[in-house]
Amino acid sequence: MADDGYAVRAEGLEKRYGEKRALDGFDLAVREGTVHGLLGPNGAGKTTAVRILSTLVRLDGGRATVDGLDVARQAHEVRARIGLTGQYAAVDEVLTGRQNLEMFGRLFHLGGRRARLRADELLERFRLTDAADKGVGKYSGGMRRRLDLAASMILAPAVLFLDEPTTGLDPRSRGEVWESVRGLVAGGTTVLLTTQYLDEADKLASRITVIDQGRAIADDTPDGLKNTVGGDRIEVVVTERADIPRAVKVLARVADGEPETDETELRVHAPVTDRVAALTEVARTLQDEGIAAEDIGLRRPSLDDVFLRLTGHRTERTEAETEKEAVA
Ligand SMILES: Nc1ncnc2c1ncn2[C@@H]1O[C@H](COP(=O)(O)OP(=O)(O)OP(=O)(O)O)[C@@H](O)[C@H]1O
Ligand SMILES: [Mg+2]
Repeated sequence: MADDGYAVRAEGLEKRYGEKRALDGFDLAVREGTVHGLLGPNGAGKTTAVRILSTLVRLDGGRATVDGLDVARQAHEVRARIGLTGQYAAVDEVLTGRQNLEMFGRLFHLGGRRARLRADELLERFRLTDAADKGVGKYSGGMRRRLDLAASMILAPAVLFLDEPTTGLDPRSRGEVWESVRGLVAGGTTVLLTTQYLDEADKLASRITVIDQGRAIADDTPDGLKNTVGGDRIEVVVTERADIPRAVKVLARVADGEPETDETELRVHAPVTDRVAALTEVARTLQDEGIAAEDIGLRRPSLDDVFLRLTGHRTERTEAETEKEAVA
């Protein structure tokens, strides 16, 4: 148990791959018993940080502790206290869900009977009992991720690292994984979760560290982070350009700040706190005043908005990444 209340602490972590500084003075502090989000775009250094903290790669500089133990000098002890679900699923396609979990149990020297019992418990907990004897090759993406989570929970770790646990999953499967993560934390595990999605960090984490080019560029609560970008916004696209000034007045009544306009797209938008009340009020008033709207909606800030505000530039994605996301 860490005696300072932090399950993970990193100070000035450095990791170089040739010329590339994957981590460049990275700091992190994760409170015990919480979910902490590590949010950043492709190549920011999330996986590198997780791999150092879980003792899979060696750091070049700085220091880090997990559960009060030094990751460089006490790697063996650290390993006994952590679980890791990598960015790419580690389960075996040919084996069934149950066989996979039993195999992991044996790997951790549980012994046949205890491995079987633990597998049953975890199948139940991750709602995989019905699919337990199907080959994993036939599992959906969400089921596979849940099996991955179950495998990393075999020894009920003090600290669990989840590297992009929902990337590429459909909304329903993402929801299922989120439920499982909440269950783990209720059981006392501390979770460090990497993600590229602000909404995911917002739903799960009590604190978020934003990472860019190997450094932490923000560390805040989800609300604090959203407030730096201005929180949620309401948007109206009017049909007639002449209606823009009137639409601005309507939005100004419910907004928390000055409405902004985008003349070319006939769009008026403004920050709001009470999302649903604002939406209802705006829709009703537009109708009452006979202002025709092409579209009305609420927009939550995204990682892109956070980045733009913190760094002055958008997240840099390769075309292949953008395409992958469009397909997913
Ligand atoms: N084994 C390696 N050899 C060389 N370069 C590496 C290696 N691992 C990571 N890098 C580089 O270090 C940087 C950080 O990579 P990392 O995988 O930690 O990013 P990430 O935030 O996990 O990104 P993603 O969202 O794509 O998973 C990238 O520029 C990457 O190309
Ligand atoms: Mg990664």
